Amino acid sequence: MGLVLRPRMQARSQTNANAFPLASLTVCVLTYMSIHCRSLEGGAYMAKKTIAEIFDLTGKGAIVTGGAMGIGRAIVMRLTEAGAGVMIVDIDMDAASKVVQRVKEKGGKAEAIRADIRSLADAKKVVEATVQAFGSLDILVNNAGIYPISKALDTTEELWDRVLDINLKGTFFFSQAAAREMVRAKHGGRIINLASIDAVHPMGDVAHYNASKGGVMSLTKALALEWAPYGIIVNAIAPGSIWTSGSEKLRMEQEAAGKDPKEMLKKFETRWPLGRPGEPDDIAKVALFYASDAVNYVTGTTLVVDGGYLLS
Ligand SMILES: NC(=O)c1ccc[n+]([C@@H]2O[C@H](COP(=O)([O-])OP(=O)(O)OC[C@H]3O[C@@H](n4cnc5c(N)ncnc54)[C@H](O)[C@@H]3O)[C@@H](O)[C@H]2O)c1
Repeated sequence: MGLVLRPRMQARSQTNANAFPLASLTVCVLTYMSIHCRSLEGGAYMAKKTIAEIFDLTGKGAIVTGGAMGIGRAIVMRLTEAGAGVMIVDIDMDAASKVVQRVKEKGGKAEAIRADIRSLADAKKVVEATVQAFGSLDILVNNAGIYPISKALDTTEELWDRVLDINLKGTFFFSQAAAREMVRAKHGGRIINLASIDAVHPMGDVAHYNASKGGVMSLTKALALEWAPYGIIVNAIAPGSIWTSGSEKLRMEQEAAGKDPKEMLKKFETRWPLGRPGEPDDIAKVALFYASDAVNYVTGTTLVVDGGYLLS
């Protein structure tokens, strides 16, 4: 008998214990709204934008690192299509100029600047150039990254430093330079970092890369918390396998190491529930989402974009 009653009593006392915080939270929210908003229907927090307005980035200035190729190039195309002026940051100026030309042909605004994301001086220079070119800096996409294959037992200090410097240090100091400008201009902003599913599910032979992308995910949360008071929203995207020039290079490296790329592909194919590898535009559309007003109450998150790979 006692055995039957005790759980019920516990359940009731838990319900009562939960009821008070929930009621107080509701009162707090309603009090906040009555102070800060004119009315539930017409108040500022209810002001509704149309779908087109939510995704309209006209008048915004953006930086996309590694925007000359792959995922970065696709992000440049989507942000400029939405109306933003984009500064493409890359070490490959030939490829970057071609992207600028493509954007202009489509009626968008883009410029390219040569910069190595490892350099703090370059980060400052890029921010200044962006404000000068587009009037403000509102969006930063930390996309540039490298993923050279190396077994942990063979990884040299030079390779470790190169990968961590580009993928993690570059992300931090470009974020810092951008955030300083956003704080100075008092208009907030968006920072979008490229992580990887490899950070949570290592695929082998890239421990240095896994560590760098784990760092990017952790940094995303830390900066989101620290810069929320300035209206700077920080989120990350964790792509799965996306077909880009970088991943093609990886395939060639595997081939050179005597591995059959077709075997490797077969291994992956069985793990794509959506039946295909990702395209750069699959990531670019999510970057646009994070850059838009669709997510002005979301910060510190990492969105996995892997066609279901991690589920399989
Ligand atoms: N492709 C994938 O399958 C995949 C999966 C998960 C995560 N990612 C991440 O997405 C991002 C883009 O990957 P991608 O496959 O499009 O790469 P990519 O190699 O195709 O393009 C990377 C771009 O970054 C530039 N770049 C490299 N080092 C730079 C530096 N020091 N300074 C400035 N620019 C530099 C390159 O010139 C190039 O234009 C990376 O951060 C990568 O780790 C990619």
